[in-house]
Amino acid sequence: MNPAQERADALRAKGSAVILAIETSCDETAAAVVKDGREILSSVVFSQIDLHKKYGGVVPEIASRSHVEKIGPVVAEALAKAGKTFSTIDAVAVTNGPGLIGALLVGVSYAKGIAMAKELPLISVHHIEGHIHANYLTHSELAPPFLCLVASGGHSHIVAVEGYGNYRLLGRTRDDAAGEAFDKAARALGLPYPGGPNLEILAQSGNERAFEFPSGFNAGNHYDFSFSGLKTAVLNTLHNAQQKGLPVQKADLAASFQRAVVDILSEKAVRAAKNEGYPILALAGGVASNATLREGLRTLAQKEKLRFFCPTMELCTDNAAMIGAAGFYSLMNGCVASLDLNAYANLPMGTNAAPHQKGD
Ligand code: KG4
Ligand code: ZN
Repeated sequence: MNPAQERADALRAKGSAVILAIETSCDETAAAVVKDGREILSSVVFSQIDLHKKYGGVVPEIASRSHVEKIGPVVAEALAKAGKTFSTIDAVAVTNGPGLIGALLVGVSYAKGIAMAKELPLISVHHIEGHIHANYLTHSELAPPFLCLVASGGHSHIVAVEGYGNYRLLGRTRDDAAGEAFDKAARALGLPYPGGPNLEILAQSGNERAFEFPSGFNAGNHYDFSFSGLKTAVLNTLHNAQQKGLPVQKADLAASFQRAVVDILSEKAVRAAKNEGYPILALAGGVASNATLREGLRTLAQKEKLRFFCPTMELCTDNAAMIGAAGFYSLMNGCVASLDLNAYANLPMGTNAAPHQKGD
């Protein structure tokens, strides 16, 4: 047996591990040191917002290059803050998908380098599974089973978390993800990147009942979402007003759009939890840092007698601590990746559960 596998088995037997985690799936270079999947010893996030701002969105090639520049210093800072070195960590976890392929490859290559040099267990983590695990870092009492609404820039999922590493996907978006819809609506409203947070700020001064948007596909008796119609409705409202030379209260439009997204997400997530018999509902993903969604879902969940959990704001958006948490439970489940681990732009949830994941 190879030394990394032996170490993984020993950690599993002990039920404890200090994990260095790396996340580079999009526009944040992040590293963290996490103990036993629940305790953050350090978490460092370098945001590339300033690099992409002038282009109005993430430029993949610029993202990859910036990850290459920052990964070393960010990992070094995370280790130093945790009082650890490459020789005193137990394992390395890394996001290997889904995300921007060039960006993912930077983190995966770096993690593989550490794992090979130090003969440490390498753990591959699915980005969305990472988001779900952010809840464990905030709420020590939370344990499966529960239902989780994951709303990020690339995904809108309703996931039944049946156990650690054991998921059932109940619903997903048929087109745009919730965060993507926020970003596209923000762009139409003339707001700078990053769209979601800026739209939330504009919406604060608007009337959320000024515009009524039909729920369309979302009204159906299923758990899937569709947000592209809502985005088109925002664009049509703006274009119609422009053609007629009428002013549009952009803050009202932003607030009404945000209310519509929050209502769709909340209603479906709560209905899914009730129908499927989960008394606990959790929220995760970058859009979970939106106060209207956090509070709207909390209120609805509590009205329906569901316990509600949500990570702290900084753990909602991309970070490596959540990858360290997910990596711990993966390690405890006996999932250790081999050094031919690859990165995948598209990666279905649960794929990393295979003990020795192979490349293409
Ligand atoms: O999870 P995340 O950081 O990255 C992905 O995995 O995609 O999510 C980023 C998404 C972006 O679409 C961003 O606009 C959205 O989350 N977002 C927000 C807010 N903060 C981030 N959307 C609405 N309101 C916010 N406050
Ligand atoms: Zn994310």
